[in-house]
Amino acid sequence: MKVRINQQACAGHARCNHVAPGLYSLDDNGYIASTGFSVEAGQQALALRGARACPERIIEVLDEPASASTGAA
Ligand code: F3S
Repeated sequence: MKVRINQQACAGHARCNHVAPGLYSLDDNGYIASTGFSVEAGQQALALRGARACPERIIEVLDEPASASTGAA
């Protein structure tokens, strides 16, 4: 599972960080510091909660299986 963040659209609400500070780091100005990351198995629920907490809806959770799919979409 991966998280993709539209960092440029971040408005600095910091709710993602409030819900899951270990996953959603903020920069010095209070905006999301990352454009995305891979989520460890035990942290998926937390990552999802953080994503849903963002009022701008710029955090997208991609539910990719561990083994990469090679088929055409
Ligand atoms: Fe930005 Fe949304 Fe978090 S606006 S700081 S990604 S809650």
